[in-house]
Amino acid sequence: MIGAGNVGATVAQRVVEAGVADVVLLDIIAGLPQGKALDLAEAGPLLGHDVSVIGTNDYADTADSTVIVVTSGLARQPGMSRDDLLLKNAQIVNAVVEQAARHSPNAVLIVVTNPLDAMCHVALKASGFPRRRVVGMAGVLDAARFRTFVSMELGVSPVNTCAFVLGGHGDTMVPVPRYATVGGVPLPQLMSQEQIDRIVQRTRDGGAEIVSLLKSGSAFYAPGAATAEMIYAILEDRHVILPCSAQLKGEYGVDGLFVGVPVRLSSVGVEEIVQVELNEEERAAFGRSAAAVQELVGKLGTYA
Ligand code: NAI
Ligand code: 2OP
Repeated sequence: MIGAGNVGATVAQRVVEAGVADVVLLDIIAGLPQGKALDLAEAGPLLGHDVSVIGTNDYADTADSTVIVVTSGLARQPGMSRDDLLLKNAQIVNAVVEQAARHSPNAVLIVVTNPLDAMCHVALKASGFPRRRVVGMAGVLDAARFRTFVSMELGVSPVNTCAFVLGGHGDTMVPVPRYATVGGVPLPQLMSQEQIDRIVQRTRDGGAEIVSLLKSGSAFYAPGAATAEMIYAILEDRHVILPCSAQLKGEYGVDGLFVGVPVRLSSVGVEEIVQVELNEEERAAFGRSAAAVQELVGKLGTYA
């Protein structure tokens, strides 16, 4: 876990408590990852987990990792857009990925740092990894938010819901209600268009809603759980279909860009990009979202 801040430490906690892998927490701040790792280890006797968890500032300690998760960077502050973070976080992601990838050349890299889809481009270039081994976390979180709002609106269990979100992790993201279901029943049969529109907008604003409540920093519990879901899929070779940011090569009519689509995730990383049939309106919204990602990528200069 590169970055032992709110998201990195929360992902570490979930993975350690699930007992699925040894965890190394790395941060640029001396003492921070060591302190959090020791704290997590000391919960072991109470919670019954016995995987190894260490904190470090030295990339040598991360050698031969199966999965690298990049959460290092600045988080959004109130009034700050994801895009404001672009160049500062590009510099950080470039530096950390270059070092982490050198020590773990066979790893699958999960990018979390924002602006998410643009940072995947930085990570792909800095790692030199094939595209299937660089994947961004956003759609799993955005879909979880969408599902949460559906469950609140209908008074059903969130585990009863299923949905995915396409496009970039930004204001232009594309929740696709037509394919969302509750207990197998398509959402449009359970809700009015007005209700659906409200939930779609709240999903798009989901990150900002948490930022404005917290006043300082951004969401980390749901992002941590979403990242852990992707880690389990890779470590346990689960072949699950999850919405993730992946580099498209012609799929969805997009070439070379990282953008959120359903992918089949397994131990090799992105095993397959799943192509879903979109209607005209959905296709247009996806195109606008891809264009917004392209605009950011265009500002990355030598980082992409
Ligand atoms: P945080 O500020 O709590 O943690 C970031 C950590 O990165 C800090 O501990 C910092 O010391 C560390 N760091 C900074 N530069 C570093 C470097 N060069 N090497 C190693 N560590 C370094 O932030 P938080 O809340 O954990 O968020 C992390 C990132 O994840 C942000 O960019 C945030 O916007 C993004 N994020 C993305 C989500 C998504 O859906 N893709 C969801 C939630 C957060
Ligand atoms: C989120 O959606 C900040 O991207 C982050 O919560």
